[in-house]
Amino acid sequence: MTPAHDPTPRQLLDFYVEAGVDALVGEEPVDRFAAVDEPSPARIARAPLPTPADTTRPSPVAPAAAPQAPDEAIMAAREAARNAGTLDDLRAILEKFDGCALKASATRTVFADGNPQAKVMLVGEAPGRDEDIEGLPFVGRSGKLLDRMLAAIGLDRTSVYIANIVPWRPPGNRTPTPQESQICLPFVLRQIELVDPDILICLGGPSAQTLLGIKDGITKTRGRWFTFNTGKRDIRAIATFHPAFLLRSPLQKRFAWRDFLGVKKALAE
Ligand code: URA
Repeated sequence: MTPAHDPTPRQLLDFYVEAGVDALVGEEPVDRFAAVDEPSPARIARAPLPTPADTTRPSPVAPAAAPQAPDEAIMAAREAARNAGTLDDLRAILEKFDGCALKASATRTVFADGNPQAKVMLVGEAPGRDEDIEGLPFVGRSGKLLDRMLAAIGLDRTSVYIANIVPWRPPGNRTPTPQESQICLPFVLRQIELVDPDILICLGGPSAQTLLGIKDGITKTRGRWFTFNTGKRDIRAIATFHPAFLLRSPLQKRFAWRDFLGVKKALAE
């Protein structure tokens, strides 16, 4: 039998990283096991009854506000997004919106990058770790690949506008749930309406499914042109592979290349 021994700090850190822990939420560790340790019956019996003064004193652990029901949150998001007359208004409204639980664990609201007058708008899925730190979409490894893909067709961040379906990083970079996407959808729809691009590019399946209202996966959807109504007019929309997927599956880059060439052609028409 191998003797049991405590993990080294390095092994512990590796374990945390593998488990998806990549951010600290406090300076001091909290022993949650101690916190939930129920008082024993003997301790309850000996505990003094609260005095009237005790019961009026606010509890040091304030109860969390009840989360909003998803339907209510979607309605509130629609109402809030409708009130935004400009992109700056929309950003301010989004920063005050508390209907999506992702906001509580994210560091920042990642609103957009690029040129609000651009003809091309790209919409990804959700910010990752680097975006959460910097407050800008697509600044990490997949962002660097996206920049190279754009450069290949003569575009950069001065000629495109970039946003995400969900503006807050999901914990551990998981895919946002359909519910989280639906709560955030009114904001990105208003963002598209205010930017009013000629071409919309959905990066990855969740973006395509949420914006184009389709059920098919990205392998089936990519490269096809859709008509998308911005709220002002019909524009052309296309879905392609997400750069993060291309980093894991480089052989698929040739298809994304084809899609980007299609965008270049459409821009020239
Ligand atoms: N992936 C996304 O979908 N969006 C980002 O902003 C970064 C990575």
